[in-house]
Amino acid sequence: MHICKTIDEFRNFRHTVSEKKVIFVPTMGALHEGHGSLVQMARRLAGSSGVVATSIFVNPTQFGPNEDFHKYPRPFEQDVANLIRWEADVIFSPSPEEMYPAGSATSIDPGPLGNVLEGAIRPGHFKGVCTVVAKLLGIVEPAAMILGQKDFQQQRILRQMITDLNMPVELITAPTARESDGLAMSSRNRYLSSDQRARATAIYRALCHAQNQYHSGIRDSAVLQAGMIEQITQAGLEVQYALACDPETLVPYTGIVGAPCVLLIAAKLGTTRLIDNVLIS
Ligand code: PAF
Repeated sequence: MHICKTIDEFRNFRHTVSEKKVIFVPTMGALHEGHGSLVQMARRLAGSSGVVATSIFVNPTQFGPNEDFHKYPRPFEQDVANLIRWEADVIFSPSPEEMYPAGSATSIDPGPLGNVLEGAIRPGHFKGVCTVVAKLLGIVEPAAMILGQKDFQQQRILRQMITDLNMPVELITAPTARESDGLAMSSRNRYLSSDQRARATAIYRALCHAQNQYHSGIRDSAVLQAGMIEQITQAGLEVQYALACDPETLVPYTGIVGAPCVLLIAAKLGTTRLIDNVLIS
């Protein structure tokens, strides 16, 4: 396993594999089996002759002033052990100063998709995500990047960025990895008490219930949304949004819900925010 702490170190490594297919999985560390499924997918796509590149970087610019940047878990040794187990080849793990040296001034505006849903609750979040991912892609130069569907809006915005900025990389969205009771795997699940952990399963249950309603012919957005809100609220979670949206525009359906459609939920358990979604195509 190669561990590169600086951009120069990574570029020197990259030079030695310039003829190989590089598949990239960006992360903020605190890795769990959900990341494992992305890295293992990268391994399959790269094959034994290709390179699986990962990054571990808790990106300060995507956290708001009242968010958990300083508290965000950083179990680096454990992350390295997991990445070895999942057969990654290289980790790019820079410091904030390496990524944002004094004088850095440029950022990427994610456009209107960045102002809705998560972007409305977390102003500036997607500007930070787009900026760091553009920088990472410029450093890693992969043929493909893999992101999880759990962060649905993130993958939609980054797909748009890649198209709009003519970036020579394929974006692959991998299915959400779930615990056996359906809870979407997330680094933030570790903040939940055992009682909160049990109640958090209401999110996926609510999504599945709405999906079943949709498949049984219920297409009224108000009915689907009210059903999701009721289920989550009953479990004692605070709903931030529970919507049926167009997966391309991220605009919530009003009236009849068409296809395709993405059901999106954000809810809070104490101070922990959880998001999840189900895509109906
Ligand atoms: O999804 C994440 O972990 C982060 O938003 C990403 C894509 C690594 C950018 O910091």
